Amino acid sequence: MTEASPELDIVRSARLLVVEDNDTLRRGIARALADDFGSVDEEATGSGALARFGDPTQPAYDVIVTDLRLPGATGLDVLSAARQREERTAVILMTAYGTIDTAVEAMKRGAFDFVQKPFELEQLEVRVAKALEHGSLIREVRRLREERAARFGAEQIIGSSAALEAALTMARKVAPSRSTVLVTGETGTGKELVAGRIHGLSPRADGPFIKVNCAALPETLLESELFGHERGAFTGADRTRIGRFEQAHGGTLFLDEVGDMAAATQSKLLRVLQDREFFRLGGNKAIRADVRIVAATNQDLEQEIQAGRFREDLFFRLNVIRIQMPPLRERPEDTELLARHFAVEFADELGRPTRALSEGALARLRAHRWPGNVRELRNVLERALLLADGECIEADDIDLPEPPVAAGAALHFDLPAEGLSLRAVERDLVLAALRKSGFVQKDAAALLGVSRRKLNYMIQRMGITHPSWRRNRAEPDAGLGGGLWGAESGSFEDDEAQDVEEDAPIG
Ligand SMILES: Nc1ncnc2c1ncn2[C@@H]1O[C@H](COP(=O)(O)OP(=O)(O)OP(=O)(O)O)[C@@H](O)[C@H]1O
Ligand SMILES: [Mg+2]
Repeated sequence: MTEASPELDIVRSARLLVVEDNDTLRRGIARALADDFGSVDEEATGSGALARFGDPTQPAYDVIVTDLRLPGATGLDVLSAARQREERTAVILMTAYGTIDTAVEAMKRGAFDFVQKPFELEQLEVRVAKALEHGSLIREVRRLREERAARFGAEQIIGSSAALEAALTMARKVAPSRSTVLVTGETGTGKELVAGRIHGLSPRADGPFIKVNCAALPETLLESELFGHERGAFTGADRTRIGRFEQAHGGTLFLDEVGDMAAATQSKLLRVLQDREFFRLGGNKAIRADVRIVAATNQDLEQEIQAGRFREDLFFRLNVIRIQMPPLRERPEDTELLARHFAVEFADELGRPTRALSEGALARLRAHRWPGNVRELRNVLERALLLADGECIEADDIDLPEPPVAAGAALHFDLPAEGLSLRAVERDLVLAALRKSGFVQKDAAALLGVSRRKLNYMIQRMGITHPSWRRNRAEPDAGLGGGLWGAESGSFEDDEAQDVEEDAPIG
């Protein structure tokens, strides 16, 4: 059942049932309601109505108008069965003189309203309209609830690595309590996702999940954002404003980028966490809010404390429970799962048939170090899907800024104490690759895992030349040993390789 929210739609598509054994009355009511509200079914007996509710292929009714005394089953039976089938169904009872006690009983059992016979049709219509409005509100609340659950609890968190499992187990364990949680980890590792999961699994899931980005606002604004302000608290404060703390009452307050909070705000936050109460800016009434705090940062807070930029006492208040999100490069098995997941997600979103990843594409993903973690992976896959034109994402569709290191070729350098020049190392590597490939640039590029264009650009920048490269007959390069000039397998680069505009300079 898709539930549209505009009220008019709901009213128009309403399903109603009239249960009444007096044929004339039943038909009269049905016709009147059909004019105003939509489709109206009729039933002359209580047992007939019950039979309808038993049919699971039939959608539930929005409103049922039923007589109290009926053949087969009573109006009260109809009421119970209808509401058992669908709690949202509003039942309006028609009672005759002398049955008012039963009507009261019916209200206790969840009837929406009743009308006493004899009645004007308008009287009934008003009640039905009210019932429909009420129903649409309930639907709206339900929809919002489901939406919230989808956002904060059910959003899929993909991964099978032990490190991620540990973080998720922790989140599950601490969710039911009110303890403050600090989620740490590099950018893009899923800190916000986990904060949402904690909220979604907590008894506060129906309450608000309010996010504040502590890094995005200057100090003065952040305070008013968090605690609100009274009218006239400062120039421009022409209205009282409720802060995020108050908004989060009954729910969770997610303090994102908490490591970037200004010193003064840190002290105020500390006080709130200690006293569990606060003041609006310019206010003198202490306010208490029932709020669970989840904070996140990609900063190393211990280091920030050492540097005097983060209050240690605030750290201890926040760091009651710590959930550490592991970086993606430490969980290659997750990289693959996530890549496949995002491929399908974007394929669906873009309506493309491309859903699989070639072995070459996966190898490139595995070789990358993912400084931007899952967010970066997600972006790379979105781009790959736009580029790919077959059924499969190929290595070439994976657009990564860093050249991948060939599998098994991870080099381990010991950086000398005095340091070294990265450019010199780069140049040595380019020369080594050229020698190895007999100065065939195409092959050297493959050895280095860069495009031909890129290598050609580097060669030009480094001023490397070779006699076999016809177009580059400049000075012989001092870095090349004399014996190498005789290399016979030199090749000529095609025009495309000379065209270097598209490559961004390195370094
Ligand atoms: N395990 C996961 N499964 C599915 N999606 C994930 C996972 N981890 C992260 N993501 C997705 O990656 C993106 C970044 O995650 P999120 O915003 O939670 O990171 P963050 O740690 O808060 O980053 P930052 O420190 O930059 O704010 C989001 O789109 C999120 O849905
Ligand atoms: Mg975040």
